Amino acid sequence: MSLITSILALFTALIALAHLFKPKKESGTTEAPGPRPWPIVGNLPYIGKFHDLIEAFKNLKQEYGSVASIKLGVHNAVVICGLSNFREVLIEKGNLFDARAAFKRYDLLFGGDKNNSLAFADGSDSHSKHRNAIAFHTFAKNGSNNFENLENITSQHVYSLVENMKSQLQSDQKLDAKFLFAETIATIFVKYFTNQDVDPCDEVFQNMISSFDAVFQEVNEGCIGDVLPFLMPFINKSEFVELTRKVRAFSNQCFDPVIRQRVGGEVLDQNNNKQKIQPVKESNVINDLLETVENNPEMTLEHVIFAFEDIIGGHSAVSNSLIRIILELAKNPEVQKNIREEIREHAAGFPTMSDRLTYLEASIWEAFRFISSPIVPHVATQDTTINDYTVKKDTVVFFNNLDMNFSPELWESPDKFLPERFITSDGRISKPDYFLPFSSGKRSCLGYKMAINVTKVILANLLQNFEIEIDPSSNYTMERGVIAVGKNKSLPFVYKPVVE
Ligand code: HEM
Repeated sequence: MSLITSILALFTALIALAHLFKPKKESGTTEAPGPRPWPIVGNLPYIGKFHDLIEAFKNLKQEYGSVASIKLGVHNAVVICGLSNFREVLIEKGNLFDARAAFKRYDLLFGGDKNNSLAFADGSDSHSKHRNAIAFHTFAKNGSNNFENLENITSQHVYSLVENMKSQLQSDQKLDAKFLFAETIATIFVKYFTNQDVDPCDEVFQNMISSFDAVFQEVNEGCIGDVLPFLMPFINKSEFVELTRKVRAFSNQCFDPVIRQRVGGEVLDQNNNKQKIQPVKESNVINDLLETVENNPEMTLEHVIFAFEDIIGGHSAVSNSLIRIILELAKNPEVQKNIREEIREHAAGFPTMSDRLTYLEASIWEAFRFISSPIVPHVATQDTTINDYTVKKDTVVFFNNLDMNFSPELWESPDKFLPERFITSDGRISKPDYFLPFSSGKRSCLGYKMAINVTKVILANLLQNFEIEIDPSSNYTMERGVIAVGKNKSLPFVYKPVVE
């Protein structure tokens, strides 16, 4: 018997014994209802009965209501549904739920401490400062210099992407473009945030892209070590360390020239004479982050490099969701036809970020209704309540947004793909309050505007040039509520040139 099998056998025996003696939950407590937990593993056996977490959440709501307690190994958790509960956690009590889950894996992915990361850190003053430094760049207002800059960079790189795809598609109309998309979006992000050009063939750049994709798949999947930390020693951690190392090599490559420019110094000219270079502080995200370090002694260079990695890593969320959106559009050729007509009418030539493409934008939101995964869990920072149910400090809150996205009470024909539902009678985009693919409040997504803008330009240019179809020989088993395409998963599509 292997060591792991022996340990598991011992635990199973202990669990069975302890369960026999477990007192029943006291009646009359105001804790949210939920399945009775087993010792040590809690409700993992309950979750294990279902195909995935999404199906388990659905059943929890049916059996226990819109706030349900579950125990996941060592963590107390609640799963919430419904706009009023979402608002209570994200907005009204945003400060009481602004921490993130203390999963060991997050520590491993972020240099030994999840608080190094922006997205997985608990809420704090320095977290808010990082958010503010970054938001200026990610929320480029229409007409601002940042918007114009992002628009120019995006147009240039999307043009190259389409040309590249056209040449690759000459021999075969089938293409798995996930890596090409990731490369284009990463190049746009690096240029926009750092004003640096990358060589797409650079090994450090390529490693950064594949590492972020692996991290994205990793944080979107559960791991038994998150909830049963004593199993962590049996989980291979070398992969995490390697991913962090590859990402850091790229960050150093981006930070070094900016730091050198800030301090000035000396360089050798063509005649080998030393020349002084004056300090330069151009406006880019690295300089803004370095400024927060200079003005806040409690922050370190290490902190801001991690914050930088969080936003550069945002390209992975965009490339994964792009593939998922393309899948929804490939299933709906009529929608593609309407988008193409809109482009012909409103974006003659090369479609850009400034073009008013309402139907395309509505199609992107409609696709997000299908693919949005549960918002990153929040954690209670003190004893509090949700919908009057007691919630103890450190309870993990899971958001069942798929329930809202497919509720027949909230949406007409929720199973149909209907972009029109996001367009008002006077032709504007309107999203209902209960539609929160990027969350809301103090931990909401910092990159959603960039994500939508870049996605819009890529899709407009793809659909202007290609009719995209599902490849009949591929096995697409993507479910609702899933953005991450999956580890090493190939999702090719057939791209047929549009015939005018
Ligand atoms: C389509 C792509 C994307 C989706 C679906 C998405 C979705 C989300 C969601 C649901 C959250 C959690 C919000 C919460 O916990 O309340 C989040 C957080 C975050 N997102 Fe995005 N995101 C995307 C793209 C991006 C991009 C492009 C960036 C950066 C440029 C970015 C940066 C962040 C950061 C930094 C956080 C953490 C915020 C915090 O914890 O304070 N995201 N995102």
